[in-house]
Amino acid sequence: MERVELHFHLLPGVDDGPADLPAALELAREAVADGTRLVTCTPHVRCVDVSEIPERVRELSSALKRARVGLEIRDGAELAWDDVDRLDGASLDGLAHGPAGRRWLLLEAPLPGAGELEDFEASARELRDRGFGLLIGHPERSPAVTRAPGAVERLLAAGDRLQLNGSSLTGSHGAGPRTAGLELARAGHITIIASDAHRPTVRGPVLGQAVSVLRQNGIDADAAHRLTAANPRALLERGLAPARRMAA
Ligand SMILES: [Fe+2]
Repeated sequence: MERVELHFHLLPGVDDGPADLPAALELAREAVADGTRLVTCTPHVRCVDVSEIPERVRELSSALKRARVGLEIRDGAELAWDDVDRLDGASLDGLAHGPAGRRWLLLEAPLPGAGELEDFEASARELRDRGFGLLIGHPERSPAVTRAPGAVERLLAAGDRLQLNGSSLTGSHGAGPRTAGLELARAGHITIIASDAHRPTVRGPVLGQAVSVLRQNGIDADAAHRLTAANPRALLERGLAPARRMAA
């Protein structure tokens, strides 16, 4: 298995992810057991000095090697809509993935109480205007997105890709996100699944379980597998075409 996680809170003591290095190592071991070989570390931008992320990833990578955990990790970050205004182009590029000219960022869809659709869409437009592609994190957990007619279609029309949380499919966030996630997957709107893991055991890697849930709900096994392996790897290696400019 060669799964790839593009939304995963693995850095220790930074955000609401693992509290310390032993917990981070345990979370990494769980990812390996889930069939994952590569993880982008995506701390919440509001919780970290983004200039420190490369060094923190290097330190954790060394610790993984010392502990003989066979997991490759890379820099990344999870942006919220209200992070965008205070980051300049160089800072954003440091958080982005993909080859030059096809760089993209992980932007989370707002959780309940964390922002209105218009705030989120304005930040998404701003990032596209600055030349980045967008991977939209957990839209199925965002009533602002799922309950607004046409919101998902507007994101897709702008060239954004959608990342579903495996934890939504397993029911960890309740019935609403699970149903919304299955609907998005059935409609073919999802490019990748990620665990959005935070802590060992209680909120760990669930890509294998997510694939099982999709298969139980009528999604072809190869297609479900692609969402956790070939598609996330392609996003890292080939990036995303620059976003189409949308009218405000
Ligand atoms: Fe996250």
